[in-house]
Amino acid sequence: MSQVAKEITFSDNILIVSKTDLRGNITYANRHFMRISNFPEVALLGKPHSIIRHADMPRGVYYAMWKTLKAKQEFFGFVKNLTADGDYYWVFANVTPDVVDGKVEGFFSVRRKAPQAAVKHIERVYENMRQLESRASKDTAASTSWQWMSDTIQEQHGMSYDEFILGLYEQHL
Ligand SMILES: Cc1cc2nc3c(=O)[nH]c(=O)nc-3n(C[C@H](O)[C@H](O)[C@H](O)COP(=O)(O)O)c2cc1C
Repeated sequence: MSQVAKEITFSDNILIVSKTDLRGNITYANRHFMRISNFPEVALLGKPHSIIRHADMPRGVYYAMWKTLKAKQEFFGFVKNLTADGDYYWVFANVTPDVVDGKVEGFFSVRRKAPQAAVKHIERVYENMRQLESRASKDTAASTSWQWMSDTIQEQHGMSYDEFILGLYEQHL
């Protein structure tokens, strides 16, 4: 582990791709995933995707991700991920059910570099979510912070989470 965690950056055209089974265990990672996270393939395959979970990420984001995937819909979100060395990188992620013959066989995710201005914005939102989660009971923390996020977006911007988050990404490209 490095002493002070540093941000790992990469260029705009890089796509970081992974696939999972139905439980979120990694079944595929592309070479950009391995290079940026600094995990070799053997350390990733078969492991829960939470292997790259960063402690700064609110639980509410993953709560919403899984709820959306279980409804057979795609999820968009900004994600701070951990590298094997304890460093981090920010992505704008799309996560989708992998549907074969009408049946969900797993999930996959394609991630791009997150624009810096969008990260600055979302960091403050995530900070609020983490604070809410630390005050809530363990059982309700994730749903509470997710509800707060979607309600706040609706109140302040008059739009859904999806509209807001896609707008935040596109406006800073
Ligand atoms: C296709 C797919 C991609 C995922 N990508 C990430 C990711 O990049 N980073 C991450 O922390 N969790 C990712 N997750 C979510 C993890 O499975 C897990 O829910 C999350 O890390 C929270 O873990 P925890 O509940 O053990 O704290 C992904 C899930 C799926 C299905």
